[in-house]
Amino acid sequence: MKASIEVTPDAKWADRVTERLLAEIAPGKRLCLPTGSTPVPVYRRLAGSTSLEGLELFLLDEFGGLPKGDPGRCATMLSRELLSVSTGSANVHIPDVDAADPAEAASRFGALIHEGGLDLAVVGLGPNGHIGLNEPGSTPDQTTRVVDLAPLTSQGARLYGATATPTWGITVGMAELAAAREVLVLVTGGHKAEILQRVLDGPIGPETPASYLTDLDSCTFLVDESAALNGAV
Ligand code: GLP
Repeated sequence: MKASIEVTPDAKWADRVTERLLAEIAPGKRLCLPTGSTPVPVYRRLAGSTSLEGLELFLLDEFGGLPKGDPGRCATMLSRELLSVSTGSANVHIPDVDAADPAEAASRFGALIHEGGLDLAVVGLGPNGHIGLNEPGSTPDQTTRVVDLAPLTSQGARLYGATATPTWGITVGMAELAAAREVLVLVTGGHKAEILQRVLDGPIGPETPASYLTDLDSCTFLVDESAALNGAV
């Protein structure tokens, strides 16, 4: 495995991740950020310790078929957990799932990322091994695109407060993520221990798209002790 793994006690994990992110935050830097539950404590700390002024922020993924402003939309979560509680305005780029032609909107979003690449891609680990909305079956060469959601991901959106069950979305592809100068995979909680073990110890392949990241020198898995249980790490 070429990626690094860093395990931190649960109580110190969010501080450690915040420290890593702060090192990358400066005007003009190009960051891709996830939503979901995992980064929430990190965003809380970031908001209290730095300005987002001048950052180029790319949202990792977005659910389709939910009304604008829906609490389950990734853009709503990013705004709620980070942007609205931070100082300084970043230049925020969101995949446009409301566009008349979402496939074309996804290509435009991918092209915007390609223009200057990403300095840092931060991602969470889905319970089925997905990264962003690169679901099982995804290949490492796939770029930003419209995707169908795995049943677990559709249902999971409800946990974020979605008022309907999305069946599709737009995600940054594994290709753009792997090309980032640095990739950080955030993994916390005992409920992620089993999937983390499959990602780290199993074969690299489409069953667990996160496994593609284990083949990158530029990638670090930032894991708390609860997720590292079961011999995952
Ligand atoms: C969700 C999102 C991902 C997120 C992942 C993990 O479905 N599409 O962007 O990183 O799954 O979510 P959580 O941190 O809530 O476990």
